Amino acid sequence: MVYHRKPTWFIPEGQATAESAFVNRRQLLASMGLGGAASALLAGRANAAQPGDSFTPTPERNPDYGIGEGRAMTDEKVASTYNNFYEFGSHKQIWQKAQALDTDGWTIKIDGDVEKDMVVDADDLIAKMPVEERVTRHRCVEAWSMVVPWVCFPLAELVKMAKPTSKAKYVQFETFLDPKVASGQRQGWYPWAYTEALTIEEATNSVALMVVGAYGKVLPKQFGAPMRLHVPWKYGFKSAKSISRITFTETRPVSFWEEINKAEYGFWANVNPDVDHPRWTQATERVIGTDERIPTLKFNGYGEEVAGLYSDALAAKEKDRLWR
Ligand code: MTE
Repeated sequence: MVYHRKPTWFIPEGQATAESAFVNRRQLLASMGLGGAASALLAGRANAAQPGDSFTPTPERNPDYGIGEGRAMTDEKVASTYNNFYEFGSHKQIWQKAQALDTDGWTIKIDGDVEKDMVVDADDLIAKMPVEERVTRHRCVEAWSMVVPWVCFPLAELVKMAKPTSKAKYVQFETFLDPKVASGQRQGWYPWAYTEALTIEEATNSVALMVVGAYGKVLPKQFGAPMRLHVPWKYGFKSAKSISRITFTETRPVSFWEEINKAEYGFWANVNPDVDHPRWTQATERVIGTDERIPTLKFNGYGEEVAGLYSDALAAKEKDRLWR
């Protein structure tokens, strides 16, 4: 990852002068007027900062998004060793297997109902975005939750850059497809590649995030390096990892889990303690890394920002909004 470069002269923490004393090589190239592809070519990728390296420059925490009373940050070790990433196995301990994913030189295709299709270099994209830290509540449909300090930028910024046409009503996010690396993708009964989608209104809501790091580090692979979605008011399965394609569409896409079982993993999937999953309650959640079980909040506590997106659905149709 060029933006978060670990230079050739990198000295381990403790022996080093403050990192901020060094000039970022990309910034240097940019100041010479060499942007994007040219700078990537000149800089080479051999020294690119890797998932798990310190994220530099240190992103500032956005104070406008809190986590509410009684919640504490989940321990980094706990959060980064308990992950859902079916590409590497259908259990939570995939973090070691996920290290096989090669994120160097990662590109993302942007297509569909946009002014012009494009392929963007992930590093270049991140360098252009207003990166910040946001601490959010992360609630899985399986009724567990954690609180994570993400390094991220508003998804709305990416939508703006993509220039969708007036036809675009939805945006679909697609994960990489490489069964050689991801053993889970050799299991043919899943409809790979993993996809998820949002309406344009959801994608441009200020709470929707594109995540590029966690706990002050370049996004570790098990979290979905180099770039994953995080939609804090929806169940975690909406937040597709390791995104390689973003497609704007007029019609509503059918997502990975929706195709597998739409009665359990519907399109809307807004966190709602009043609507149980067909096989378990959603009224409470287990806080990972603790013995606690706490009440689940509607929209996972983000109702003030997002409830308006669903105002036409409140009352009778609400259930449909969640599961179909
Ligand atoms: N994205 C991909 N590509 N593959 C997955 O299996 N799992 C989803 C989501 N994104 C998944 C994915 C589910 S079910 C959840 S709860 C979250 O990722 C988990 O994110 P975390 O491991 O960072 O906690």
